[in-house]
Amino acid sequence: MPNHILSVEQFDRNYLLELFAHADWLRNLPRSSQRSRLPHHILATVFYEPSTRTRLSFESAMARLGGAVLTTENANESSSATKGESIEDTARMLQGYADIVAMRHPVAGMPERAARASSIPVINAGDGAREHPTQALLDVYTIQRELGQFDDLHIAIVGDLKYGRAPRSLALLLRASRGTRITFLAPPTVPVGDDIKQALDQAGVSYQEASTFDDVTDAHVVYQTRIQRERFADEASYEKSRGYYVIDQSVMDRLEASAIVMHPLPRVDEIDPAIDDDPRAAYFRQAENGVYVRMALLDQILR
Ligand code: CP
Repeated sequence: MPNHILSVEQFDRNYLLELFAHADWLRNLPRSSQRSRLPHHILATVFYEPSTRTRLSFESAMARLGGAVLTTENANESSSATKGESIEDTARMLQGYADIVAMRHPVAGMPERAARASSIPVINAGDGAREHPTQALLDVYTIQRELGQFDDLHIAIVGDLKYGRAPRSLALLLRASRGTRITFLAPPTVPVGDDIKQALDQAGVSYQEASTFDDVTDAHVVYQTRIQRERFADEASYEKSRGYYVIDQSVMDRLEASAIVMHPLPRVDEIDPAIDDDPRAAYFRQAENGVYVRMALLDQILR
């Protein structure tokens, strides 16, 4: 059976611990040893939505492991989807060309449909506002690397919690941690969903909703996110939601010296670039960590 990665629901604490150890191990291998892991393997990256980090870090991961990459970076325009080909037929084609697929789609559930039709593993690289499971993995891996643990932390999740798939997947994945306290900080137009709150309740994860950065000055992690302009029905609704929570020097001055600021990126105006040189700004290190987590995933699935 193919080993699809479709949702954070698939991951438990042991999975995280093993994956992170594997990512660390691969990271520390000499380049020549990394390259000997997956020669003759082919990854197809099929992206129906724009991406910088996810697509390129998957491709970098496969290249570092010695494999090859086929890519459709703008599949909505350049693939036969424009001619009406179904996602199932596309999946059946891909299994003849590659050993594994990383797929991003603007419609929730499309990677899952592709996976059902596919004899090779399909990795959800982000589907609509629903899930971004590999982002959540690299986020928790980053917390572990930066703070030495992912338990017993106060984590503030900030920004677009209605349409943001990264914060959604992160909140759900934090159920695999222990002693976590989450504070959600979202504009009133894009609050955290009841389904997330229910899932956290069922898992016994403590959370609260707050309205100002004053409520999270003791946070160990401040996870900022972009307002997802592309998911709003109109520009006016987007404009109503932006600009509420901007991390600038005045916010940094109130955070703990040991806190970290994360962001799945891209950012627009919700983090002032003037704080980029603050050692607590972890978002570029976080993006780089994506390569090692995706190397570990590819290596575990294909070997
Ligand atoms: N974090 C993330 O998914 O970035 P991209 O949209 O650039 O892939």
